[in-house]
Amino acid sequence: MPKNPVTRRQFIHIGTGALAATTVAKTILQPHLLSAAPRPVAPSDTVRFASIGAGIRGCELLGASTHVPGVECVAICDLYDSRQVAGQEAVKSNVPTTRDYRSILDRKDVDAVIIAVMDHQHRHIFEDACAAGKDVYCEKPMSHTVEDGFSMIEAAHKANRIVQIGSQRVSSILYSKAKEIYDSGKLGEVTAIEAYWDRNSPSGAWVYPIPPDASEKTIDWNAFLGSAPKRPFDPVRFFRWRCFTDYGEGLAGDLFVHLISGIHFISGTNTVAQRAQSSGGLFHFKDGREFPDLIETFYDYPNFRVSLRCNLNNDGGEFIGFYGTKGTLIIKDSTLSYKPQDTRPEPEGYSIGGWPRELREQYLKQWHEEHPRTAALASQVDEEGESYVTPPGYSDVVDHQANFFNAVRTRKPVTENEIFGNHAAIGCHLSNFAYFNNSIAVWDAAAKKIVRG
Ligand SMILES: NC(=O)c1ccc[n+]([C@@H]2O[C@H](COP(=O)([O-])OP(=O)(O)OC[C@H]3O[C@@H](n4cnc5c(N)ncnc54)[C@H](O)[C@@H]3O)[C@@H](O)[C@H]2O)c1
Repeated sequence: MPKNPVTRRQFIHIGTGALAATTVAKTILQPHLLSAAPRPVAPSDTVRFASIGAGIRGCELLGASTHVPGVECVAICDLYDSRQVAGQEAVKSNVPTTRDYRSILDRKDVDAVIIAVMDHQHRHIFEDACAAGKDVYCEKPMSHTVEDGFSMIEAAHKANRIVQIGSQRVSSILYSKAKEIYDSGKLGEVTAIEAYWDRNSPSGAWVYPIPPDASEKTIDWNAFLGSAPKRPFDPVRFFRWRCFTDYGEGLAGDLFVHLISGIHFISGTNTVAQRAQSSGGLFHFKDGREFPDLIETFYDYPNFRVSLRCNLNNDGGEFIGFYGTKGTLIIKDSTLSYKPQDTRPEPEGYSIGGWPRELREQYLKQWHEEHPRTAALASQVDEEGESYVTPPGYSDVVDHQANFFNAVRTRKPVTENEIFGNHAAIGCHLSNFAYFNNSIAVWDAAAKKIVRG
């Protein structure tokens, strides 16, 4: 026997490492956008919607809606006048605008609303919209507090509304391919999942510029505050609301929610993690914000553990990894790769180095007699794995909206309903609870509450 034998497993590992870097061809996934409306939509089936909130996201959604067949934006609402104009520009139409969302809910010709307002405003607009008989696309994270989420579910069910929550990755063709691989069992038993979303720029850390026309004249400041504590006009709070606990949930609500939604969708999980532990800190963006610029949270789920990180001080992009007993699945930005692990039986190579030669040889002889190499075993591992990318210009935002509007039309289920959205949002609240209380956060499902562990 050679002194430092390279086992077949080690050899394959070295070989596939090189292959992964060079020859695994990426398959370009085909968009299924029009699955939401496979035929041209008859004018009588047009869904008429209004957008409540026409800020950064509202405008993005309005722009995306122009690519969804069979929908028409009929009104735009925002508390800041310039955003009403930006919304009209996004939808390329002079639709009526207002500061008062209730006037939109009163309109009989509005079938559905998109709610793209700050997180602390989701609940009351969502509940009013349901009570007014409108279907609702509500941005992520669904809730600002645990209590909000359950109250919103009750309102949606009472009024029998179609609800889609806005974590668009769950409608992505990349995530759908990942789910197909996960469900096929190719990964074996997945016990560890990790994900991160790291950025390194002022914009990535929500240090958005304040528009020069921002004032109490152009913005309805009191309506923005809503049920949050009263304060004098402060444009920093209005435009950089994600930094403040009264209106947002920091990195957990902004980015963890996408990672959690993706992990839940791919792994077929529709529950809340049992407990969470967080660590992090405010290292760089010491601008008066109330949230850390680095947070890491470890979640316990019944069948696996999840580790999440968001760091605003390094541009690492977006990553989700599923680690199974038979393979690894990675989503890095817009690329998905699956790599099998070689789990065919192997004779022990490491510890028998401490055996005398005669015992080693005896052991290896017996092992090979008991494990004959069959053709099936030899061909079992596809060493190259698989790799997929989305086509240039692909938009999961359009797919997610199309899925919602189709459900409004057909009353068929959406990909991300209020139950799913609530579970993902509670994941964010667990993370922040653990961070701010310096304690393990335990989900008490019976009491629908987070408690200290
Ligand atoms: N799915 C995603 O990828 C994604 C991306 C960005 C933001 N979001 C979510 O979208 C929501 C909005 O975020 P944003 O970045 O657009 O914030 P933003 O500050 O740019 O815009 C929010 C807008 O809502 C308006 N608004 C607030 N309360 C209102 C009310 N009562 N009536 C009418 N208008 C009201 C504000 O005037 C503001 O213009 C948040 O929940 C955020 O988490 C989701």
